[in-house]
Amino acid sequence: SRPHLTLGIETSCDETSFAVVAGGRRILANVVLSQTGEHRRYGGVVPELASRRHVTNAVPLLQAALAEAGIGLGDLDLIAVTRGPGLVGALLVGVSLAKALAWALDKPLVGVHHLAGHVYANFLAPPGGDTAPEPRYPAVTLVVSGGHTDLFHLEAGGGLRWLGGTRDDAAGEAFDKVARELGLGYPGGPVIDRLAAQGDPGAFAFPRAMLDDDTLDFSFSGLKTAVLYELERRGWRDPDRRAELEAHLPDLAASFQQAVVDVLVAKTLRAARQVGARQIYLAGGVAANRRLRHDLGVAAAAAGLDLAYPPPVLCTDNGAMIAAAGFAAWQRGRRDGLDLDVDPDPPL
Ligand code: KG4
Ligand code: ZN
Repeated sequence: SRPHLTLGIETSCDETSFAVVAGGRRILANVVLSQTGEHRRYGGVVPELASRRHVTNAVPLLQAALAEAGIGLGDLDLIAVTRGPGLVGALLVGVSLAKALAWALDKPLVGVHHLAGHVYANFLAPPGGDTAPEPRYPAVTLVVSGGHTDLFHLEAGGGLRWLGGTRDDAAGEAFDKVARELGLGYPGGPVIDRLAAQGDPGAFAFPRAMLDDDTLDFSFSGLKTAVLYELERRGWRDPDRRAELEAHLPDLAASFQQAVVDVLVAKTLRAARQVGARQIYLAGGVAANRRLRHDLGVAAAAAGLDLAYPPPVLCTDNGAMIAAAGFAAWQRGRRDGLDLDVDPDPPL
């Protein structure tokens, strides 16, 4: 029989993406247009600009995804769209188009929690591959991106339960803000990752916030302030001493990165113990961080747990992960009506 085809739509931030996924697991097309280059000169995502780009890019990208999958609109069985969290104006573009398609095609519509999408990226066959990894339950998933740092319990059957998250800055946001202070440009994560490989993570003693409390929550704004304070104290914010700062960049990057990673690893393992997980999943843009992958892998192995993460293209925002999560929700009986609205805190 013909595979079930889900259209996945993602417009929550600065990526416009449309994907066609068969049976919730196999990617037939995953077209992503990132606006990062356009937002770079502002040092972060400009909401109004993002919304306008989604509007002009949406229909051409939808057409490109259908062409790549070799199907027409009429072949779609389900429309899945990110309804939140994200930038409201940006989300509205995807949700409006999704509702128009569902109505015109008379197909079911499912609104997806963006972070559920990141989690489900782990269960897609890698692009070009046919075999999708079987989900292992119970599991703990750490979603770390520019906008989020959250721990989820992935229960038997595929349902998600929130365990904890950041009380202020997201981990990726901390990378971006510290990189900006160090004059390294945007986005900061990849640059800091690269510099840190040449530095000493013990060179500067930066704080590990909330490491020893009982919660599964995080806080990264104090760490950012600590880095700033260190720069101030050493006089490295003075443009005339740029050369001195540059000589210390690898050590600063490595020490900052290690402070973030230590807390992420400790809390993820604590969460895994609490829910009796046998598997840890990593997701989101910061999941590309090499130190995080390494340290979390070592800690997981020591606890007898497996660690898995999606390939880089599926770690960052994309429509395929939204299709995967939407399909799973649809299988569990979720249906949304044409009154579907964007939601800063939608159901998981
Ligand atoms: O998931 P994503 O593409 O967008 C959302 O925020 O939803 O994540 C982007 C974030 C940025 O903050 C970027 O600095 C960070 O992921 N990032 C990294 C690395 N690559 C990307 N952070 C640390 N190490 C990396 N290698
Ligand atoms: Zn994301």
